[in-house]
Amino acid sequence: MGDRLKGKVAIVTGGGTGIGEAICKKFAREGASVVVAGFPEDPVEEVVKEIQKEGGSALPFTADLSTEANAKRCVETAVSQYGKLDILVNNAGVFPEVNMLQDFSEEAFEYMLKNNVKTAFVMSKAALPELHKTKGNIVSAGSESGVLGIAQNTPYGGTKGFIHAFMRGLAVEQAQFGVRCNIVGPGPIDTAWTHESTGPMDSKMVKTMKEATPMGRRGTPEEVANVYLFLASDEASYVTGATYMVDGGITIAKGGVGSQADSEMKKEPKGELELEHSKEGHTSIRK
Ligand SMILES: NC(=O)c1ccc[n+]([C@@H]2O[C@H](COP(=O)([O-])OP(=O)(O)OC[C@H]3O[C@@H](n4cnc5c(N)ncnc54)[C@H](O)[C@@H]3O)[C@@H](O)[C@H]2O)c1
Repeated sequence: MGDRLKGKVAIVTGGGTGIGEAICKKFAREGASVVVAGFPEDPVEEVVKEIQKEGGSALPFTADLSTEANAKRCVETAVSQYGKLDILVNNAGVFPEVNMLQDFSEEAFEYMLKNNVKTAFVMSKAALPELHKTKGNIVSAGSESGVLGIAQNTPYGGTKGFIHAFMRGLAVEQAQFGVRCNIVGPGPIDTAWTHESTGPMDSKMVKTMKEATPMGRRGTPEEVANVYLFLASDEASYVTGATYMVDGGITIAKGGVGSQADSEMKKEPKGELELEHSKEGHTSIRK
């Protein structure tokens, strides 16, 4: 156990699976009290129990976090249970379809607007009055897709482009209240989304993704959580409006460089966290 977030209270949206699970467990290990927030179908209760089992502090909040009413209830839960709110992590998101735009379904587009864009809007809006009191911070999930042009990913990339612009604007606007706002931009991460068997990508996309990444592999959820930890902590006291890419170099590379990666660098680090739900993410449209 560390103390980099000692005494802090954090809400992590999409905290039941994938990168969110790793953020919740990492933050709890560093002394934060964590509200693990996700859809009722997500393994939120399990993550809370796993954190408590190793001596951390966490509680569950399950609801669709894209409505203003649920976002307010989530923030109220943090404040009523833990007394304040220091950190909001807008990690919730969905990735239901990859397709050329001429074939892309309106249903999947609207689903991404609701879960990738509106969640960040309503959660940030609900959290700000509390973050003003604590001089807290927000860290949101951007993406390589939000800064690159990726074929068959354009509507998803558009929703992530919103996050990049939204967070930069918030950073400027909210500095007068002492609130920092930053972005973590993951590249291809080893969650349900980037495997053919569990997500919408086909084998060709998975192969191209690895070839285009200088480090020649996916990142682990814990490698992403490590960067969330820094940005959310007081160590990042002079960092606002920043985009920290955690992408194995994919956004600065040209061509198929992945095969040249150092063999050690190509191995996923084992990490310290026990992650039970990294591949249990949300990859289809829930009715
Ligand atoms: N996996 C990647 O390669 C990758 C790359 C770039 C960015 N990201 C971003 O990282 C974040 C996490 O992705 P992941 O790969 O861990 O996926 P994941 O599916 O494991 O996690 C996302 C979680 O958010 C939850 N969620 C979505 N909408 C919600 C809502 N309205 N209310 C409550 N919960 C909601 C889902 O149920 C799920 O548990 C996403 O924002 C994603 O865009 C992921």
